[in-house]
Amino acid sequence: MSQLSTDHLLGIKDLTPEDIQLIFKTADQFKEVINRPIKKVPSLRDITIANLFFENSTRTKLSFELAEKRLSADVLNFSASGSSLSKGETLIDTANNILAMKVDMIVMRHPNPGAAEFLSRRVKATIINAGDGTHEHPTQALLDAFSIRERLGDLSGKKVAVVGDILHSRVALSNVFCLQKAGAEVMLCGPRTLMPLHAESLGVKVSYRLEEALEWCDVANMLRVQKERMDKGYFPSIREYAMQYGLTMKKLKAASRDIVIMHPGPINRGVEITSEVADSDYSIILNQVENGVAIRMAVLYLLANT
Ligand code: CP
Repeated sequence: MSQLSTDHLLGIKDLTPEDIQLIFKTADQFKEVINRPIKKVPSLRDITIANLFFENSTRTKLSFELAEKRLSADVLNFSASGSSLSKGETLIDTANNILAMKVDMIVMRHPNPGAAEFLSRRVKATIINAGDGTHEHPTQALLDAFSIRERLGDLSGKKVAVVGDILHSRVALSNVFCLQKAGAEVMLCGPRTLMPLHAESLGVKVSYRLEEALEWCDVANMLRVQKERMDKGYFPSIREYAMQYGLTMKKLKAASRDIVIMHPGPINRGVEITSEVADSDYSIILNQVENGVAIRMAVLYLLANT
């Protein structure tokens, strides 16, 4: 069996193009499994996995839990609220106490960039980053790229625009790394105030006009405006943001070719995307969610066997 080049999944930055293709091929097999009447395999029967979520999540948390259960792993779920963190326990102490219960792998979402890497250097367990602040969200990028591959075929030469609040988005950075390693071209599009200063240094195109991005791309990945990470006003009002950067059916149809529409969720309907677009045949938003389970099964399986 082929193996990943890494012991942890901390970010797409650490994966090789071969790792990404291996994850896709493994996810192809697991996608077939989860569409069978019996959706469970015994692959991780002897593995115990703890899901540590220090930040809210719907999709990622449930998707990891389901992936672990489909692989027959034993699963522990930890949420920061209601835990002893409020009594002053550190992240390392929390993790080591959980690991003392004979846990093999930790899936962690944390508000601080670098938290997953920090943990990986200090505890004896395989660490999977389920989103660390504004830094990376590797499994989201893998499921996004896998979903494009499913809809359009090989990613080589495909043009993907990532649109919206780039500055606060871990999905944007992981998407850039993942899509480039899979051979796609990437454009980042959003208001100047929500674009990182040195965005071009990532080897991407940059646009401040949604219409220009739509004219260029095969796929548009619409990002959520992350109000909770904004310490000041980055645009005059939500209404004006929606007018400039919100994707409507009129803007989509004005583009000269059909575009595949994605969104990592949760959606602010009527802000970055209208319901008409989100629920249309252009959208693969729920396919992304479905593929998330297969991708996470692949990552867990491969890391458990590295
Ligand atoms: N896409 C994503 O990470 O969604 P959640 O925050 O609900 O996990």
